[in-house]
Amino acid sequence: MSRMGRLNIDMKVLVTGVAGQLGYDVINELAKRGHEAIGTDIRKEDELINKAKWTRYIQLDITDKARVKEVVGQIKPDTIIHCAAWTNVDGAEDENNKPLVKKINADGTDNLVKVAKQIDCKFLYISTDYVFDGEGTRPWQPDDKNYAPQNYYGETKLQGELAVSSQLEKFFIVRIAWVFGLNGKNFIKTMLSLADKGYKELKVVNDQIGTPTYTYDLARLLVDMVQTDKYGYCHATNEGGYISWADFAEEIFKQAGKDVIVHRVTTAEYGVSIAKRPFNSRLDKSKLIESGFKPLPDWKDALRRYLKEISR
Ligand SMILES: NC(=O)c1ccc[n+]([C@@H]2O[C@H](COP(=O)([O-])OP(=O)(O)OC[C@H]3O[C@@H](n4cnc5c(N)ncnc54)[C@H](OP(=O)(O)O)[C@@H]3O)[C@@H](O)[C@H]2O)c1
Repeated sequence: MSRMGRLNIDMKVLVTGVAGQLGYDVINELAKRGHEAIGTDIRKEDELINKAKWTRYIQLDITDKARVKEVVGQIKPDTIIHCAAWTNVDGAEDENNKPLVKKINADGTDNLVKVAKQIDCKFLYISTDYVFDGEGTRPWQPDDKNYAPQNYYGETKLQGELAVSSQLEKFFIVRIAWVFGLNGKNFIKTMLSLADKGYKELKVVNDQIGTPTYTYDLARLLVDMVQTDKYGYCHATNEGGYISWADFAEEIFKQAGKDVIVHRVTTAEYGVSIAKRPFNSRLDKSKLIESGFKPLPDWKDALRRYLKEISR
């Protein structure tokens, strides 16, 4: 027995959402370690912009219950790492989108969970601090149960969590926040694009507090986790303390060498956003360390590496 528990270093792992930010890095990390890495996403393989180093790619819409059962049932992975989701938080508030948001985040997860139970495989679900009410200053603990999502995205991610925890025993639920990766939209790309459009001054909120998560760093941890049987709830972000979006923006412009002044404003001063955003996105990560997992690097270091990655 190693420090990581019973290590499983030769697995067949199916990953959903590999065209997105996190799934892309997870599948690369699995392949790097020699696991059989099966990547899936809703898009056809020839539509993908950045192709990861999967062993095999399968187009799979997780809302298609029969096909999920057929594909996953045939592959019989040892582990499923479920990264696919509807992640457009404001778009999720649109009444026209709500049925699809639920279909993907709640029912899609349930479809995968049902097969995972049948084939008895490990299941890792990625979730968010949005399952809580976002109030106060106390960091959220992985085993807190006072769920109170404040927006529809959070509500459906919680439904996904509950589908996992109510039906499976061999599950990991990992809550993350403020994600950035190569594929897709994120705060860093938005800030850089505003700078490139010529903005010299920007208002950024300084009363919403959390810590960024670089998908490249998180992928290493997630693969470490599924190689063990240390199941349960966990919180993961980069290290470096709790910061505001304004702190993050200032560091982005500093590291990217962009001459943009950040004006710190409150959420109220900034004005109405479509979906309600949490003030408190502090995630307590001490359980990670206590369980013997290596924490992620400092977020400033992660930002430095990310800026290099996207400039290639
Ligand atoms: N982004 C954040 O700040 C954040 C924060 C906390 C937690 N999380 C969670 O972290 C996980 C990964 O997030 P991410 O930022 O990597 O997401 P992402 O970049 O939006 O990637 C999600 C992927 O899932 C795909 N997808 C959507 N509907 C699907 C379906 N029906 N079947 C199969 N694939 C489908 C998306 O395709 P399309 O793009 O074509 O729709 C996309 O490629 C998610 O569970 C998310 O809820 C994210």
